[in-house]
Amino acid sequence: MSQRTIVNVVGARPNFVKIAPIHRCMQKFSDLRPILVHTGQHYDRKMSQTFFEDLNMPEPDQYLGVGSGTHAEQTGAVMIALERLFAEIRPDQIVVVGDVNSTLAAALVAAKMHIPIAHVEAGLRSFDRTMPEEINRICTDAVADQLFVTEQSGLDHLAQEGVAPEKIFFTGNVMIDSLVAHLEKARALPVLEEMGVAPHGYALMTLHRPSNVDHPGMLQTILDAVGELQRERPVIFPIHPRTEKRIAAFGMSENLKSWKNLITVPPLGYLPFLRLLSEASFVITDSGGIQEETTWLDIPCLTLRENTERPVTITLGSNRLVPLATQAIVEQAHLALDGGYRRKGIPPLWDGHASERMVDILRQ
Ligand code: UD1
Repeated sequence: MSQRTIVNVVGARPNFVKIAPIHRCMQKFSDLRPILVHTGQHYDRKMSQTFFEDLNMPEPDQYLGVGSGTHAEQTGAVMIALERLFAEIRPDQIVVVGDVNSTLAAALVAAKMHIPIAHVEAGLRSFDRTMPEEINRICTDAVADQLFVTEQSGLDHLAQEGVAPEKIFFTGNVMIDSLVAHLEKARALPVLEEMGVAPHGYALMTLHRPSNVDHPGMLQTILDAVGELQRERPVIFPIHPRTEKRIAAFGMSENLKSWKNLITVPPLGYLPFLRLLSEASFVITDSGGIQEETTWLDIPCLTLRENTERPVTITLGSNRLVPLATQAIVEQAHLALDGGYRRKGIPPLWDGHASERMVDILRQ
């Protein structure tokens, strides 16, 4: 039987969580030859290798080692390396996920080489073009041949943009596939015990978006809220490398250290983080994926952004956009604790089987 060579491209932390169930599913079919390519956009052990281990992913078949840089440097480096690789292995198809620079870079290269592109998590729009991810989403969708969608808004946006209906597939959320597959294992880890916190007795925070962490005023506004909230209950804060560098550069480290109930830790692996997420009393974040995970888990999520490309997490889920002001953050946290953030339901097709539906379509 002839095999189709499919290159699955990953680069940054959220990509790993999305590709893992897709790659695993492809490996079950003898007509597919999935090749896992890691661009190296995220390279620290805690941002990358730990995720491969936690998600039970094989080592990447190819590691491009592009590392950090400006947007053009990073995107360009991925493009140059991938063009060489695709010329060598001549894939029949590539799969890209999400909206990071590696996603866009891979899609642009494949489009110019006439290699069909599947984009997973297509159609999401924040309508905020100051976000690098929004540019990545729009451009990736524009060149993709098959667009796999996670929520109704994605279908609506692609229709509005004139994408042919036969290219669009509503298959659900592959990130939730990973969550469903790993939740039991995550819950067995003694993470809460090790950190000395009680189930539903702590808050969890993540912060990495340039708009929040690159400006001292904005970062201070957020951290002031954390300073207040940690007086009431422990706040666990796994710090992204970008954020850690900014906190140090803005001279904010000492202040953080003086807060007794703020537990700062390095970036966590997928499983320990999932355990913490699943039993937090509320979550403060500027991540995209965490808005979805908290929705599925029915954990109150305060999103520190002016917009979201994942509106279903607000209309159905337990997520809210919180104004970027210290008192507003504190008030919303109290509202969340008082039961004001209840979920209405789990979005359609967030059922743990999105990657199966997607791979079925790829094989047709
Ligand atoms: C990237 C994605 C973002 C995603 C996030 C998840 C883009 C434009 N952004 O943002 O959409 O939500 O990943 O984490 O693709 N760094 C390290 N070690 C690493 C990786 C990064 O120290 O392993 C530091 C470097 O200083 C680097 C900075 O973090 O310059 C930012 O990394 P980068 O990959 O540019 O973007 P993220 O902020 O991680």
